[in-house]
This record gives sequence, structure tokens and C-alpha cells, in this order.
Amino acid sequence: MRVDVVTIFPGYLQPLSLSLLGRARADGLLDLRVHDLREHTHDRHRTVDDTPYGGGAGMLMRPEPWGEALDAVLADPPPGAHPQGPVLLVPSPAGEVFRQAGAVELAAEPWLVFACGRYEGIDARVVQHYADRVRVREVSLGDYVLNGGEVAVLVVVEAVARLLPGVVGNAASIEEESHAAAHDGLLEAPAYTKPPTWRGLDVPAVLSSGHHGLVARWRRDEALRRTARRRPDIVAGLDVAACDGADLRVL
Ligand code: ADE
Repeated sequence: MRVDVVTIFPGYLQPLSLSLLGRARADGLLDLRVHDLREHTHDRHRTVDDTPYGGGAGMLMRPEPWGEALDAVLADPPPGAHPQGPVLLVPSPAGEVFRQAGAVELAAEPWLVFACGRYEGIDARVVQHYADRVRVREVSLGDYVLNGGEVAVLVVVEAVARLLPGVVGNAASIEEESHAAAHDGLLEAPAYTKPPTWRGLDVPAVLSSGHHGLVARWRRDEALRRTARRRPDIVAGLDVAACDGADLRVL
């Protein structure tokens, strides 16, 4: 997968060289390219922002550097790019909330481009213009405000790249975690390792029973209870047809 990120803080993306993603890049599974928006300014101060029309607090990013930077990125498609070009992701607290299902969709794309806004965001004409040329998605991490899109890029790229074949060593682990479609999007049950007793706390006996059916039922019950308690919104969206009688007794 090719990922291009345009930002005024290229250094913010350095964590994407570490750990599993660093290895995925070294192995050629992820081709991540970070571009400095200020390379596309033409004044002495390398200005990217200005005051908003209509007044209001803070500064907005001007459209011209974005137009130049994104045109340059789009002019260099990877081999095998989608006929409609990349998905252009614009992190914003006003975007659609990014979820695991969105990560799964993006993991099927050969090319993602991220535009990181700073200050109060990017002049709205940038999204308007590129929406006619590529598929644009404004994405939010959640209901809070960050200082810019870079942290959102770290989150989205990690969530997507770990779904690419070969990035996470054990493919089954991806199906067994919280929010996985294979488990109806539920939160994961609590998990334990050795020792069997720690500070007076025992590992639930069923997990050492060797009875796979009972272990699976226990995990499903715990997942349902935990999800009902912490995320009633997920339980409300459960497909009742996907629930068996034992599920319904827990709920
Ligand atoms: N930029 C600022 N706040 C954000 C958020 N909540 N999600 C994504 N990008 C953002």
C-alpha cells in the first residue's frame, strides 16, 4: 500500500518508522511518503495560513499551497492505483467518526493520501475541489479537538496497515480483537497469562479447563457483558439474528 502524507510537521510522523509499521516499510508492504506543505509556498516566510473570512478566532490554512502539494502527489500514482485515484483523507473534528469498519475498507485500497490541517483547519475549497477529482473522506477520531491532523494520521495509518497481510505476524489475532466483525463488533473479553495466581487474584478456572467450547462460551459472555456495560451503543446495533439463545440470556 502507498500512503502519502502532506503536513507542515513531517517530524510528527516519525513514529511510523518504529515497531511493526517500521518493519512493514522495510519489507515493502507499506510505502509511506511524507511531504512538507511548506515546500509549496513561495514567500520568504513560507506562509500557509491566514485570517478567516467572516471573522472568528484563529487562523485557517490557505488553499494555494494545498493545491500545489496535492497536485504534485496525485501526479505520481503508484503502479496498480485505483482508476479513481487515491482516497484523500482529511482529518477533522467535523469529519465522520473513524471506526474499525472504516479501517477494513481502507485496507483494501492501494493508495491513501492524507492532508493534515493545522490551526482552525483548511480553506473549505480544497475539499470541494478535490472531491471532483478523487474520493475524499473527512475523518474524525472522536468527539474532541486535537491541534492538527497528524496524530489522526498516526492512528488511521496504524489501524489500517496492521490489517495488511504480513504486517501482524499472527493473522488470527486480527480476527479475535475488539471491534472485529468476526465477533460482531463486540469488545474483547478480559485476557490472562501466567502466573495462575497473582496478588491473590486467580485466572478464571474455565480458561485452564482445556474445554474449547466452554472457553469460547465464557469469552462470548464476558464480551457481551463488557460491551453492554461500557458501550451500549454497540449492543443496540447488534444484529439479533447473529445472537444465539445463550447470547440473549446474557443481554
Ligand atoms: N483534528 C483536530 N481534531 C481532530 C479529531 N478529533 N479527529 C481528527 N482530526 C482532528
